[in-house]
Amino acid sequence: MTTTDHAEQTPRRPRPWVGWAVFALALCATFVLGLLAASVLERRRESAALLPAAPVADLEGDSAKWGESFPRQYESWRRTAEDGPRTKHGGPGHYDHLAADPRLKALFAGYPFEVEYNDERGHMHALEDVRGTARMDPARGGKPQPGTCLTCKSSDVPGLMAEMGVAEFYKATFGEVSAKVSHPIGCADCHDPQTMNLRITRPALREAFASMGKDINTASHQEMRTLVCAQCHAEYYFAKKNPSEEKGTYLTFPWKRGTTADAMETYYTRDVPHTDWTHPVSGAAMVKMQHPDYEAYRSGVHAYRDVSCADCHMPYRSEGGVKFTDHHIQSPLKNINAACGTCHRWSEAEIRARVETIQDTTRELLDRAEDALVAAHNEVGAAAKAGVTAAQLAESRDLLRRAQLRWDYIAAGNGMGFHAPQESARVLASAIDLAQQARVSVAKARK
Ligand code: HEC
Ligand code: HEC
Ligand code: HEC
Ligand code: HEC
Repeated sequence: MTTTDHAEQTPRRPRPWVGWAVFALALCATFVLGLLAASVLERRRESAALLPAAPVADLEGDSAKWGESFPRQYESWRRTAEDGPRTKHGGPGHYDHLAADPRLKALFAGYPFEVEYNDERGHMHALEDVRGTARMDPARGGKPQPGTCLTCKSSDVPGLMAEMGVAEFYKATFGEVSAKVSHPIGCADCHDPQTMNLRITRPALREAFASMGKDINTASHQEMRTLVCAQCHAEYYFAKKNPSEEKGTYLTFPWKRGTTADAMETYYTRDVPHTDWTHPVSGAAMVKMQHPDYEAYRSGVHAYRDVSCADCHMPYRSEGGVKFTDHHIQSPLKNINAACGTCHRWSEAEIRARVETIQDTTRELLDRAEDALVAAHNEVGAAAKAGVTAAQLAESRDLLRRAQLRWDYIAAGNGMGFHAPQESARVLASAIDLAQQARVSVAKARK
């Protein structure tokens, strides 16, 4: 049978498969159109999310004004005011280090940290906490500080620096600057309101990059998700802009040789000989480390694999079908599934246990370092009292300075070693070793 025969024999009537094909085609078309429409809507929503509906001024310090266009980011940002409950080694809320660990009073003797040393808490509290600290209050044993101390506490700072000039801002007294700022850390610290892109608003980070021969303007988008935090979560000191100044006030990160504890120690010894205070018991010339979070993070595996601060501390959240960045910046242990679960398919309990094991190990090494440091301060002090000369004690005092700088690099840092477990252990091991060497050295000097 030929096909013609077949055509002749078959009556001309709609074939059943044609109807089905039309139906299937229509289904596909509806589906594709639906997808297109959804993606257009999504795009619109995304671009709407990225451009402020109500325009705000370039350096607007009041986050509520930005919040009018971005209610989700704003409401989650406001939650940084929440206090407690704490996690095993961190978390929000009040925590008094000196009450918890009396050795700290001995280690910081003669320095404002012996007066008050509270753990950090959420961004919303930054301004009230710096204004309320006994460390700056002479009536409570503290010391007055320059305006520089407000650099990392308020979203009014970028605007104020533009108005006053950066060096003038740093030179002003704490009271002068404090009278001009009223908002805690907020949108203006991290965002450009025209585009909502991330931006660097603090000159110290920009200058620190330049000192390492790097241009921060070339940072990738993923790097910016870390660098906005590094503006404040970094070690710093107050440099003299010219040698005639009696006291330095210029906020500077000691990164010229790198960001490890060793590199900073060399910087503070050779490049810019720097002493924060002389320990009244041992007579050692001390350096206080201040929360080198970015620096420690850099030597950890997450930085190596390009995981940013925001990946763990600002994970995505969904609300009413809209995906956005959770601005409730907090301990990731309060939010494990969102913060870690996207990359690690371990159970929440296992993730917590892995973090706490790292932190318990770090705590144990901190304890050993503190015991050795306290003993060394006391033994050098006793030797000085017994008449051992400064020249004979020079070596042990230098070892003490180096030991305590390393211990503090981890102790003052946040996260209890989690950001770089192996580097934390290395730095603390060398702190313990140097403190014990100081004790051996002073014992020899007494002979
Ligand atoms: C891989 C995830 C991860 C990355 C990346 C990360 N962190 Fe953390 N961070 C943690 C964990 C886990 C803790 C411990 C929280 C605790 O003990 O409650 C922590 C603790 C902290 C804390 C103390 C919080 C508290 O409540 O005690 C600060 C501050 C902090 N990190 C800042 C940073 C900064 C700044 C960066 C980037 C330079 C960064 N973190 C990168 C996971 C991360
Ligand atoms: C303008 C300075 C500044 C910037 C920018 C900044 N921080 Fe902070 N951060 C602070 C200060 C200051 C505190 C302590 C506030 C207090 O104790 O009152 C703090 C506290 C924290 C805490 C502790 C919260 C708690 O509950 O204990 C975390 C976590 C944290 N910051 C993470 C980050 C991350 C992640 C970024 C970047 C996305 C970032 N910070 C950017 C200054 C800053
Ligand atoms: C400490 C830094 C920091 C502060 C303060 C901050 N943001 Fe963000 N914001 C980020 C980061 C990081 C992202 C993620 C950006 C990215 O990956 O492109 C982000 C993303 C956004 C986005 C893009 C959409 C999204 O959800 O991912 C908007 C809009 C936004 N923030 C609004 C605000 C508003 C409004 C405030 C103040 C209430 C604010 N931000 C405060 C760091 C910050
Ligand atoms: C964006 C992805 C990402 C996120 C988010 C993330 N991690 Fe990781 N994590 C990694 C990668 C990649 C490694 C390295 C694994 C490797 O190379 O084998 C790693 C390694 C680890 C390790 C092994 C560390 C070591 O030194 O060997 C631990 C523990 C860990 N992560 C815990 C966490 C916790 C806790 C969180 C949440 C606070 C978290 N991670 C969030 C990607 C991530």
